[in-house]
Amino acid sequence: MTLYKSMRFLDLQERDQSESSCRDSARCSPQVITPSGRLLLSTTLAGSPTRHYRPFVSALDPYQLRQEFPILNQEINGKPLVYLDNAATSQKPLCVLDSSRNYYERINSNIHRGVHRLSQAATAAHEAARETIAKHLNVNRPEEIIFTSGTTDSVNLVASSLGRSDQFQKGDEIIVSGLEHHSNTVPWQMLCERLGITLKVIPVLDDGTLDLEAYDALLSERTKLVSVNHVSNAFGTVNNVIHICSQAKKVGALTFIDGAQSVPHFGVDLQSFDCDFYAFSGHKVYGPTGIGILYGRYDLLCKLPPWRGGGEMIKEVTFEKTTYNDPPFKFEAGTPNIEGGIALAAAIDYVNNLGATNIAAHEDALIKRAATILAEIDGITLYGPDDRAGALSFNVEGVHHYDLGTLLDQMGFALRTGHHCCQPLMARFGITGTIRASFAAYNTIEEVEALGKAVEKALMMLR
Ligand SMILES: Cc1ncc(COP(=O)(O)O)c(C=O)c1O
Repeated sequence: MTLYKSMRFLDLQERDQSESSCRDSARCSPQVITPSGRLLLSTTLAGSPTRHYRPFVSALDPYQLRQEFPILNQEINGKPLVYLDNAATSQKPLCVLDSSRNYYERINSNIHRGVHRLSQAATAAHEAARETIAKHLNVNRPEEIIFTSGTTDSVNLVASSLGRSDQFQKGDEIIVSGLEHHSNTVPWQMLCERLGITLKVIPVLDDGTLDLEAYDALLSERTKLVSVNHVSNAFGTVNNVIHICSQAKKVGALTFIDGAQSVPHFGVDLQSFDCDFYAFSGHKVYGPTGIGILYGRYDLLCKLPPWRGGGEMIKEVTFEKTTYNDPPFKFEAGTPNIEGGIALAAAIDYVNNLGATNIAAHEDALIKRAATILAEIDGITLYGPDDRAGALSFNVEGVHHYDLGTLLDQMGFALRTGHHCCQPLMARFGITGTIRASFAAYNTIEEVEALGKAVEKALMMLR
């Protein structure tokens, strides 16, 4: 352990002491919510069952955590793996792996309509998972939580269902932002083409934040939906979702927040910014792939038509007419990813066991240290504001991001290169892509410092 690291963690420990006493009580009050909807004093532990995979630690210790992530303990190209591609997908702790295995070894069965014991056990576990996620996001009722296959699926569900409702008339407008992932752009674009509505875009300022004055000016009575991400996967920008949602409401527009890059990095309390829809992906928050969440306001879900037909989503079927089930089942046609939902709840329990605030503080220290080290490199451009979450994107003058990423891979570092599914954002900055380091609870300051040295070394070879 380096001196720097011990100092850093002392600092974190001090901050976390106030949080650990907070965690010990059932609910901590008052909670502090930033304008961007970040929960600074966590209430998210309340009510979540604690798993006993590890002794409780008051401050987040990434070295201890790493023992729970077997995949991290390997060499790539003869070098220890440094996994910094967490925005693409995070690694999974033993409790999540165990959850999937236990499900198949002990209760695998189809859910909801089974009279037999295994089906009842699987149903109970699946619905308990829904409740865990409902509590984690602090929503009003578990029926507001729909299991999907991921954020992309959640956006498509809402776009498809709203497209069949009477929400839009020709000439109406949908607003997205210039920071969006393609999955929060293309489904709306497809809907616009189909219904003759217009897509408007909130511009991005030079510091990688949204131009909120321009946003306010875009809003009008024609605006029927605003859909933005909570945190940008490309630049780590944390958006002011409180402002975005409250302004949209003033003109009667619905709001959809893409939380794919927020839920993994800090506590999210949906009561604090009152959006109509919120989505995230299990695989980015230590859970499995193929499972995701859509939150929808209950009264809206009741009114909206289903998007896919099949089993589970019906009340009664005749050849003349079918009546539909209540939410959330109305939107969950077919056999769901049962094991995935249960394992996602295990991942959420894991996050709550660590403390969402501890994760946020730890990652903040990592990303700030990474920015400080990288900023010293000659010819480097760091994208996004200083106050980033999760991801740090950069380019070095005269060097292609792909070449840098390839050399870093040779040294054992997993970083992502390219447009990060944000081509319009790359075009706005006149670049084809960036190289991106993205962080999780198990990353260490040592890894960040090693990254700085590896980038310097790679640049000596490339320049
Ligand atoms: C901000 C954001 N939105 C949406 C997505 C799409 O997530 P998924 O591929 O899990 O559906 C991603 C994935 O990187 C993302 O970062």
